Amino acid sequence: MTGYRIRALGDTLAAADFHCGNGQLDDYIRRYASQDIKRGLARVFVALPVGDPGRIAGYFTLSAASVSATSLPDELRRKLPRYPVPVALLGRLAVDKAFQAHGLGSILLADACIKVAGASRVLAVAGLIVDAKDEAAAAFYRHFGFVAMPGQEMRLLLPRKAFPADLE
Ligand SMILES: CC(C)(COP(=O)(O)OP(=O)(O)OC[C@H]1O[C@@H](n2cnc3c(N)ncnc32)[C@H](O)[C@@H]1OP(=O)(O)O)[C@@H](O)C(=O)NCCC(=O)NCCS
Repeated sequence: MTGYRIRALGDTLAAADFHCGNGQLDDYIRRYASQDIKRGLARVFVALPVGDPGRIAGYFTLSAASVSATSLPDELRRKLPRYPVPVALLGRLAVDKAFQAHGLGSILLADACIKVAGASRVLAVAGLIVDAKDEAAAAFYRHFGFVAMPGQEMRLLLPRKAFPADLE
């Protein structure tokens, strides 16, 4: 499979052909992503195949968020104060069907972690959270070390300490 360039979503890309198998995630990149960027609600990053740079092979979004300290897994909650905890939110992550199962999902997730680790040098976060759309998506995130938040099986957290050490 080809290599990719990951860059911020611009206006010139045709998202109409994007199909990941989840209609909401397809609709988002086609219709809503640009508005969210303009309104400062999300940053959207797309993976473009080097050999076909007008095509979106995958994307993810990042936003700032906070979670209640009491909603965190025990181990983390014990170490933190009781007021809301700042986190980064991986709002959406999807790979076009034509590119699935060739490693792009893990590339996008790693890139999101690198971006969050960089941002956290100037805006502190205790981890990266994601709301999985279904059990298959939750399994994908658990595969990379995300842990379910107590009582919210579809909301998962990757604690800051699980980020690669050289990013600290
Ligand atoms: C889930 C998704 C992002 C995975 O992307 P992908 O490019 O197919 O995944 P990769 O090829 O990078 O797989 C990376 C690893 O995750 C594993 N994996 C992939 N899907 C998995 C799943 N559902 N459960 C457990 N592990 C999974 C792969 O086996 C692979 O393991 P390895 O690193 O040990 O080889 C993609 O299938 C997708 O976009 N699905 C539809 C949309 C969706 O559900 N998005 C998540 C919404 S929150």
